[in-house]
Amino acid sequence: MPPLLVASLVPLALAQQFQLALNYSGQGFFDPWNYKVGNDAHDIQGEKGNNGNVNFTDQAFAQQQNLTSVNAAGHVVIKVDDFTSAAPNGTYGRNTVLMYSKDTISSGSLVIMDAVHIPFGCSVWPAFWTLGLGIPWPSKGEIDIIENVNLATNNQYSLHTLDGCSHPAQGQVNQTGNVITTNCFVNATGQATNEGCLVADSDLSFGAKFAQNGGGAFATLWDEDGIQIWFFTRSLVPADMATGNPNPSAWGPPTAFWPVSTCNTAKLFGPQTIILETNVCGGFAVDVFSQTCGSTGKKCTDLVVDPSNYHDAYWEIKYISVFTKAGASGAAGSSAASQVSSTGGSVSHTALGAGPSPTPGQSAASARASALGLWTVLSGVVVVLLSFTWV
Ligand SMILES: *[C@@H]1O[C@H](CO)[C@@H](O)[C@H](O)[C@H]1NC(C)=O
Ligand SMILES: *[C@@H]1O[C@H](CO)[C@@H](O)[C@H](O)[C@H]1NC(C)=O
Ligand SMILES: *[C@@H]1O[C@H](CO)[C@@H](O)[C@H](O)[C@H]1NC(C)=O
Ligand SMILES: *[C@@H]1O[C@H](CO)[C@@H](O)[C@H](O)[C@H]1NC(C)=O
Ligand SMILES: *[C@@H]1O[C@H](CO)[C@@H](O)[C@H](O)[C@H]1NC(C)=O
Ligand SMILES: *[C@@H]1O[C@H](CO)[C@@H](O)[C@H](O)[C@H]1NC(C)=O
Repeated sequence: MPPLLVASLVPLALAQQFQLALNYSGQGFFDPWNYKVGNDAHDIQGEKGNNGNVNFTDQAFAQQQNLTSVNAAGHVVIKVDDFTSAAPNGTYGRNTVLMYSKDTISSGSLVIMDAVHIPFGCSVWPAFWTLGLGIPWPSKGEIDIIENVNLATNNQYSLHTLDGCSHPAQGQVNQTGNVITTNCFVNATGQATNEGCLVADSDLSFGAKFAQNGGGAFATLWDEDGIQIWFFTRSLVPADMATGNPNPSAWGPPTAFWPVSTCNTAKLFGPQTIILETNVCGGFAVDVFSQTCGSTGKKCTDLVVDPSNYHDAYWEIKYISVFTKAGASGAAGSSAASQVSSTGGSVSHTALGAGPSPTPGQSAASARASALGLWTVLSGVVVVLLSFTWV
């Protein structure tokens, strides 16, 4: 082989730190997911749910009711029903959507969500998070990327694990967020049950201010260093995030960082299913309702029958992209999620559960398959040429 060819291929391969696996956007956004259907008594694995006042709808109904759509800007909109009135009823379940990815991510993955609006409002509980399927929860770990409730003004990042994972104390790790709690174990002594190891962000990261600033982007990198999450408000979103070659090492310190030195991610995290949902009331929103919505003079569940409380309860998303680190094994693998029956309730801050043992499935998106195939060919060529040249 002529050395010239080696010289032209090697820099290309070395520069490519990540490979795009899936880009959820536009009309194609909605298909690579399973939809949880029914109330919130159980989660997607059949364990105890969050008891939200919801009717999680299937994909066809959500589309027909315009709960899921693509707007004129080409952004994906996923909303809570904000047009159906109901009679006063403490158990009424408002129509909303919980979708969970057919594919899973593993160590060596980068997940980016760029959004211009996150659901907010009294009784509203949005979450963008990942769950390792496995019973009992959280035997395969959970990563909460976007989550807060009611009129809270700042996003909170968190992990939920079995015993053996913590976040370093404030100042002991290079991150910009504020440590709220350090122990990720769900039964940690001295923390509320299932509280997790919480890091709080600025007030541009959630609620009305997030939207007023044009939204922003959240990037989650899970690799051999641990789990890191960056948030950038619109004007600061790194330009390389929307390209095929994102470079987290140029983004500055993350907002939240759980290094492997204090969290054994290899042991405590399995392949993660990505979940995007909007709950209504339920454990978390009810528990802290008075903190930001006490002025309503009502209980959380009193709000559910009135659709006017849900005009801000929508996601507006430019894209969710998933990258795998070049050379990482098992990233963006096939998922058990596509085989899990969607009978249960939701998941989250409180109890995410398990249920029927996941059956191995397969759901390779063709775009991903061809991208990975191309990558394999390229790196194979580089390796062959290198050894040929250097021996
Ligand atoms: C709940 O959602 C299902 C679709 O999954 C729909 O058929 C049903 O009508 C909804 N219930 C109500 C009360 O709207
Ligand atoms: C559906 O919702 C989208 C997003 O809010 C909106 O742009 C569109 O006009 C709605 N379509 C209908 C038929 O109401
Ligand atoms: C309240 O709503 C639930 C679920 O939508 C329904 O099953 C129940 O009959 C309603 N109760 C009353 C008193 O309207
Ligand atoms: C946490 O404590 C609860 C209540 O004692 C128990 O049911 C559960 O199994 C514990 N979870 C773990 C992971 O230890
Ligand atoms: C993903 O899709 C969005 C929306 O079309 C686009 O702006 C972005 O560049 C895409 N990302 C990649 C890595 O191609
Ligand atoms: C924190 O991270 C930034 C960028 O990632 C780096 O420039 C800086 O030196 C780091 N600081 C410490 C104390 O490690």
